[in-house]
Amino acid sequence: MNYETLLFSKHDGIAFISINRPSKLNALNLTVFEELEACLEEARKDKGVRVVILSGEGERAFAAGADISELATLDAIQGKEASHRGQELFDLVENLGKPVIAAIRGYALGGGCELAMACTLRIASEDARLGQPEVKIGIIPGYGGSQRLARLVGKGRAMEIILAGEPITAHEAYRIGLVNHVVPAKDLLATAESLARQIMANAPLAVRFAMESVSHGMEMTQQEGLRLEASLFGLCCATEDMKEGTRAFLEKRSPKFSGK
Ligand code: COA
Repeated sequence: MNYETLLFSKHDGIAFISINRPSKLNALNLTVFEELEACLEEARKDKGVRVVILSGEGERAFAAGADISELATLDAIQGKEASHRGQELFDLVENLGKPVIAAIRGYALGGGCELAMACTLRIASEDARLGQPEVKIGIIPGYGGSQRLARLVGKGRAMEIILAGEPITAHEAYRIGLVNHVVPAKDLLATAESLARQIMANAPLAVRFAMESVSHGMEMTQQEGLRLEASLFGLCCATEDMKEGTRAFLEKRSPKFSGK
C-alpha cells in the first residue's frame, strides 16, 4: 500500500516506517497520524515482523512536532480530543507487543520527541536535537510528553526541558538517559538494524513478556510489579522456546526459537 506521508516497507523481520514530509520537517499532521496507525496495525498483526524501526525522511528531522497549522485553530474541546488522539496512537506504539526503535536524525521536538519516547528504544545521530518547546507557543506537551519524559529522565530534568522549552543535544539526551545510543548520522539506521537483529535472535515471546513486565510494572507499586513479573515468568516456562533455550544451553549449541 502507498502512503502519502509515510514510507513503509518490511525486510527480513523488520518493518521500517519513515515519516515522509521532509519539507515540513516531518511535522505530524492528521494524515501522518492515520497512516502511522495503519502501518503500526499491519506491523502488529504480521507474525513475520519482529521489530519496527521508526525514522524521519531527510537529514533535518525525525519530526519537528505536531503540525502547528492544525493546532492553531483548535478550541478547548477539539484540543482535548486532539490530545487524546495523539495519546492513544502513542500508546499503540508503546504497547505494540514488538520492540519499536526510534532512529532520530535532526529535530525531535514536541510531538516528535513524544513519539520517540513512546518507542521502546531510541538511537540518536550526533546532530539530533530533542525537546518539548510547546510552552513557547502557549501549550503544553499533549501526546504524553509530560508523563513519559519524567518517567524516563526524572522529574527535575523533565521540568527544565518542558519549562525552558530549549532543545537539548544528542549527547545531553544520552547523558540523562533520554536516548540509548548516539552515533554518527551515517551509521544511524545500521545501528538501529543491528540492535533489532540482536533482539530478534532472542525468544520472541520472552521479548514480548519482558517488555510488558517493564512497561506495565512501572505503572504499579513494586509489589504489584513483582507479581506481574512472576506471572509472566511462569508463562515463559510454558513456552516451547523456554524448553529449547534451556536445552540448547545445556547441549552447548545455539537455540532455534519458533515463537511458540
Ligand atoms: N508544524 C508545522 N510546520 C512546521 C513545523 C511544525 N511543528 N516545524 C517546522 N515546520 C515547517 C516550517 O513552517 C517550514 O515550512 P515552510 O518552508 O513552508 O515555511 C519548514 O517546516 C521548515 O522549517 P523552518 O522553521 O523554516 O526551519 P528552521 O531551520 O528555520 O527551524 C525549527 C527549525 C525546528 C527550529 C523550527 O521549524 C521550529 O521551531 N519548529 C516548530 C517546533 C515546535 O514548536 N514543535 C512543537 C509543536 S507543538
